[in-house]
Amino acid sequence: MPRVETRRFPNLTVLSHPLIQHKLTILRDKRTSTRDFKQLVNEIAMLMAYEVTKDLPLEPVDIETPLEKTTGSQVAGKKLTLVPILRAGLGMVEGISQLIPSARVGHIGLYRDHSTLQPVDYYFKIPSGEADRAFFLLDPMLATGGSAVAAVSALSRAGAQKIRFLCLVSAPEGVKAMLDAHPKVPIYTASLDRELNAKGYILPGLGDAGDRLFGTR
Ligand code: PRP
Ligand code: URA
Repeated sequence: MPRVETRRFPNLTVLSHPLIQHKLTILRDKRTSTRDFKQLVNEIAMLMAYEVTKDLPLEPVDIETPLEKTTGSQVAGKKLTLVPILRAGLGMVEGISQLIPSARVGHIGLYRDHSTLQPVDYYFKIPSGEADRAFFLLDPMLATGGSAVAAVSALSRAGAQKIRFLCLVSAPEGVKAMLDAHPKVPIYTASLDRELNAKGYILPGLGDAGDRLFGTR
């Protein structure tokens, strides 16, 4: 697939690990079943989480092995918090939770109005201690950016200060919308695709992520 220029987006990191790219290609294929789609979204999310957490700060911790006392390292600060944007973001939770079992999970309910493409919000619940938590906002698709921008705004209003956005496929329009609205929120994506079509779908994309994940079409 031709590469889209990423240098104009300082907020964007494209995770080009071969396993991520291999799995993403199967995910895009229209012949991929709902069962495989769900499994692949989880696997890609897990691989992305491994990359996205590589700069988390550590703190020393005293432990005792069966032989003697020693000092190990643990991830510093409050528990990481995963926040899927409903529905499709739910598909990324299980894979990341396998890597970070102690992560808390919040939820943001948003859907995109099909005619206006504007996000409509219907649910918001996150754990307390917002200011100290590291939030990973999850949604497979960043298209116009309306949903991601609204979700970050809602988290910020609730007091969140450390937010990272993880998506599988992004469009330049959505990355730009995030850069304009929330320039300090890093975006991690498996692919920056070419463009949006007239209906706001990402090209080449993978279609409607929620429908393919839950088999609702
Ligand atoms: C999809 C996707 C994102 C949003 C992206 O959700 O999961 O949340 O669209 O589009 P945007 O960047 O233009 O806002 P959708 O609204 O279809 O809801 P669903 O997950 O419930 O199917
Ligand atoms: N939402 C999706 O699920 N797919 C797209 O291509 C755009 C928005």
